[in-house]
Amino acid sequence: MQYHKAVKQHGLTLSSRRFVFIYRFQERNQSHRSNLEEKMVQGRKMKMILLLILQIVMAATAANVTYDHRALVIDGKRKVLISGSIHYPRSTPEMWPDLIQKSKDGGLDVIETYVFWSGHEPEKNKYYFEGRYDLVKFVKLVEEAGLYVHLRIGPYVCAEWNYGGFPVWLHFVPGIKFRTDNEPFKEEMQRFTTKIVDLMKQEKLYASQGGPIILSQIENEYGNIDSAYGAAAKSYIKWSASMALSLDTGVPWNMCQQADAPDPMINTCNGFYCDQFTPNSNNKPKMWTENWSGWFLGFGDPSPYRPVQDLAFAVARFYQRGGTFQNYYMYHGGTNFDRTSGGPLISTSYDYDAPIDEYGLLRQPKWGHLRDLHKAIKLCEDALIATDPTITSLGSNLEAAVYKTSSGSCAAFLANVGTKSDATVTFNGKSYHLPAWSVSILPDCKNVAFNTAKINSATESTAFTRQSLKPDGGSSAELGSQWSYIKEPTGISKSDAFLKPGLLEQINTTADKSDYLWYSLRMDIKGDETFLDEGSKAVLHIESLGQVVYAFINGKLAGSGHGKQKISLDIPINLVAGKNTIDLLSVTVGLANYGAFFDLVGAGITGPVTLKSAKGGSSIDLASQQWTYQVGLKGEDSGLATVESSEWVSKSPLPTKQPLIWYKTTFDAPSGSEPVAIDFTGTGKGIAWVNGQSIGRYWPTSIAGNGGCTDSCDYRGSYRANKCLKNCGKPSQTLYHVPRSWLKPSGNTLVLFEEMGGDPTQISFGTKQTGSNLCLTVSQSHPPPVDTWTSDSKISNRTRTMPVLTLQCPVSTQVISSIKFASFGTPKGTCGSFTSGSCNSSRSLSLVQKACIGSRSCNIEVSTRVFGEPCRGVVKSLAVEASCS
Ligand code: GAL
Repeated sequence: MQYHKAVKQHGLTLSSRRFVFIYRFQERNQSHRSNLEEKMVQGRKMKMILLLILQIVMAATAANVTYDHRALVIDGKRKVLISGSIHYPRSTPEMWPDLIQKSKDGGLDVIETYVFWSGHEPEKNKYYFEGRYDLVKFVKLVEEAGLYVHLRIGPYVCAEWNYGGFPVWLHFVPGIKFRTDNEPFKEEMQRFTTKIVDLMKQEKLYASQGGPIILSQIENEYGNIDSAYGAAAKSYIKWSASMALSLDTGVPWNMCQQADAPDPMINTCNGFYCDQFTPNSNNKPKMWTENWSGWFLGFGDPSPYRPVQDLAFAVARFYQRGGTFQNYYMYHGGTNFDRTSGGPLISTSYDYDAPIDEYGLLRQPKWGHLRDLHKAIKLCEDALIATDPTITSLGSNLEAAVYKTSSGSCAAFLANVGTKSDATVTFNGKSYHLPAWSVSILPDCKNVAFNTAKINSATESTAFTRQSLKPDGGSSAELGSQWSYIKEPTGISKSDAFLKPGLLEQINTTADKSDYLWYSLRMDIKGDETFLDEGSKAVLHIESLGQVVYAFINGKLAGSGHGKQKISLDIPINLVAGKNTIDLLSVTVGLANYGAFFDLVGAGITGPVTLKSAKGGSSIDLASQQWTYQVGLKGEDSGLATVESSEWVSKSPLPTKQPLIWYKTTFDAPSGSEPVAIDFTGTGKGIAWVNGQSIGRYWPTSIAGNGGCTDSCDYRGSYRANKCLKNCGKPSQTLYHVPRSWLKPSGNTLVLFEEMGGDPTQISFGTKQTGSNLCLTVSQSHPPPVDTWTSDSKISNRTRTMPVLTLQCPVSTQVISSIKFASFGTPKGTCGSFTSGSCNSSRSLSLVQKACIGSRSCNIEVSTRVFGEPCRGVVKSLAVEASCS
């Protein structure tokens, strides 16, 4: 990487020096020669020199990327690479440099991103590459940081992105069938892929041109679902491969989860573990394109998290078993702004429990423990790239992999894949402690630089500080009076409404121009009908494909429901004699993004819809009636979120807890520079805009189910998406990210469209702070910090062989102000609830206080030399909880 960067800088200096030289050459000669011929000769010479310069610069900067059985090969050298996904539209350009720098500091070599077709071509042939979709800028920023890029063009991307990344207009191309051997689809896929490749080439962003892109992906996980597409799947994949290759990027292509990926496409693995994966040819390296660092959140679901010990275990196992390229999906997950979240029911937050959280703050100890892991793996690089591992058993569930080169380098990985018992193994005559479900990395085949279950990085708390929404200008007026509102009409109000017999599928009707589709019916009830029986109600039965339905009878909300694929509602209703209106509002919450034929799953009220008399007996089919349809809302058409309107009403009292209202207020930005979120508690469901920018769908009343949560998830044993859950029984998402760069100090506008009814005056702001509390437990059996790692022969300082507890306040202006807990011995509990065990050195607290208070960071050797011997024959730990201020 350093080399790559240095060569690039050298290339630039070289070209500017040459430029000076040419300029002088031209001046001198001009005074002596004047005729045309001479000028032409001179021109030719100039051209040749320029060409030469270009060749020199190109040769100096272009990298030759190939691959072989062991690894990607860059400029003739095999590389061990660590990669992480950051999806550029899930953060802002203002956040990108910091996210990339934090990735680099965390030990990444490569940033992996999908390319989001729906964002880049929202309408056919109308391209957009600005703002959060400025792909070129993103790639260049990664390049400036000295990192590589893996560009996953897809253009199907899945990614919990609306419609899997496909623009919805694609669905309306005549004769189209997605992701199969279908001419109209292939034509569009080729057009977009070519557009992206051409753009990258034009900006010289492929490594073959001196840029950072070392790898591109075509399609995405098609092998998971291709059987549903029959024989056409085979020819489609062959076509995809040759189409991609014909674009001549000069760097390799990969296909993920595609066992039959044709040569020379590299087939790569996705999953929670990929150590058992082998590519489909011995000439291809073992690569892992998606190691899920956590999992995505859905509205109505609890929050998944993946313990870092298990994530590190999966990574170490992969490199132990011959892998040389691994990518965290996600390294920074970010936010599904606007209506970009996939479906059904993907939340607005795409935090993913990634090493960098949604707001761009480090998630500790996840980020730190992985950084240490990356350092340990890089210490093994020479041995790793030289050879295949020799794998031997050290006992049941115990395995050693040794990479030994002819020149004498040796690296070893020792694994305990058992889920219950720790083990002590003997390897090369030395004894090693291996906790269950862990890997130790020995870059010299002797000393442990890292163990996946022994964390040397402190847990850092993060906290939201609430500030109530301060009215603009600091006025002391009641908040409610600062809000204005516009009522969205119930039912049909727009002139483009239309009549159709029967029930229409929603995506085909709205083309996803809006989340909202009104289905409206007027019906006459004669006085003698059973639906009007005294004391009993009629029942409206509705079936919908999703995701939310509100039923209004004669203008009043009578019932609602939501669901992922199928909603079935029985709503008791009161009808009147004469004219009645049934207005059904169907709302999508992200279009499906995964599975065979996900594009045809559909949404909306497709029926049956019936009216039953409560006493049983009669039932009328409403589905086949003549319905009136309205795509979208009146307020959407008038642009209430973005343009001024004289219709806003500021009269008190503010109507609250009523469905279908637009709200607006102005506010001051929370002070400071910390990331900002709006807490929507008190509201129901809707979409929100800050200064005209959509911050996404909010839905704090969507509550996670009660089952499956655990406070302390055992990292040992195979991870699954629902293994470790928190937040059961609570709202899935109350906090919604507002990027700082979208805010001005004062005079900011917040607009909401509230569907179900809520009280916007309860909205508050939070700023997210990091790290006032630090916790860490380091045992005597922990390896010393990886930063101090030196192989046996070079050890001069005894302390380097000792474990060390290191604390550092994350903010540079902070110092450690108090030690809330310290015990060397057998401390118990976890952060926030540490207690001393039966064995405890009486010097613990005073020693830690002395070493740490008043400094930003401190290092304490975890040994009896420092703390004395509180109990013989026991492996002791030092547990500390400290505060920074
Ligand atoms: C994979 C897919 C990704 C993402 C992930 C789950 O199957 O390739 O795009 O959807 O699952 O987060």
